[in-house]
Amino acid sequence: PKEEKKFVIGFSQCVSNDAWRQAMHEEMYRELSFYPTLQLEIKDAKGNSETQIENIREFQKMGVDLLIVSPNESEPITGIVEEVFRSGIPVIVIDRKINSNQYSAYIGGDNYEIGQTVGQYIKNTYPGYSDILEIWGLRGSSPAKDRHQGLQQALEGTDFEFKYQIEGEWEREVAKERFRKFLTDNRDASFDLIFCHNDVMAISAGELCKEFGIENVKIIGIDALPGPRAGLQAVSDGILDATFFYPTGGDKAIETAWRILSNENYEKENLLQTAAVDFSNVRIMKQQTDRIINQQANISRQTEMIASQIEIYQSQRGLLIVFGITLFVA
Ligand code: FRU
Repeated sequence: PKEEKKFVIGFSQCVSNDAWRQAMHEEMYRELSFYPTLQLEIKDAKGNSETQIENIREFQKMGVDLLIVSPNESEPITGIVEEVFRSGIPVIVIDRKINSNQYSAYIGGDNYEIGQTVGQYIKNTYPGYSDILEIWGLRGSSPAKDRHQGLQQALEGTDFEFKYQIEGEWEREVAKERFRKFLTDNRDASFDLIFCHNDVMAISAGELCKEFGIENVKIIGIDALPGPRAGLQAVSDGILDATFFYPTGGDKAIETAWRILSNENYEKENLLQTAAVDFSNVRIMKQQTDRIINQQANISRQTEMIASQIEIYQSQRGLLIVFGITLFVA
């Protein structure tokens, strides 16, 4: 039989040492099992924009059929992505954006809308509160800017105020260290709400509040991942007051890559939905995500079983053919 053409997809990931990115990769690999002719290679820029540019250049040299990129920071990554796109290689931008519309498709949450949803939630849930301490993701990355601006817009004309800002760079440890320094240097700082651009920073802020004996502060994060030490668990344990779903879009990215490579229709802008999780719905949310995780594990087991059945079938078929030829010759 004629071999179908293999397509190589290069994925330039900005960083990968956190559970949210690992979940994205898992979704990608699961979706890939439906498209045996797609092959994925991931390069991790480890949070460094220069490394990411090098990684993309390596993919260019390899001659990948399609590039997926989650830009560490928008500005430094824009030029190289535009270059790849203009050279005729389709580009899917995922989660973080570039400063240009020169790409084939974008997949990810609408971070401005997430910021606005957080604002609505705060206004409804905490009337009478006002002083916000904000722990930022990496300033040059689009979700940090968009989450801040969306929230700011939603809080316009209210008593809420961004009183303190801390640079957490999306990282648990960086956020913890900077917040610790802030609390040590500003013993009389007062705030009633901590808004963190993601859950890992929110959880470390919660741990520090405990350590410093700070009480009655509401803590809000974003991501709402299942699993130990992640957002849903933290809400259920009362460490976080609320978190907001931020889907990774890993499966959608692979499906879109497949559509592009097989010349099928696809949408350019694919915005994924968010939802608030707090004490009122965390139990049902956890049940749902646990069920999905179980089902996904079953799908993976089935896929492996089918693959091994195919192998057995093929080797038996080979034996039968040899046997047939032997009979014929005899
Ligand atoms: C993971 C992460 C998430 C956040 C996203 C923003 O690396 O920091 O926690 O929602 O990136 O791009």
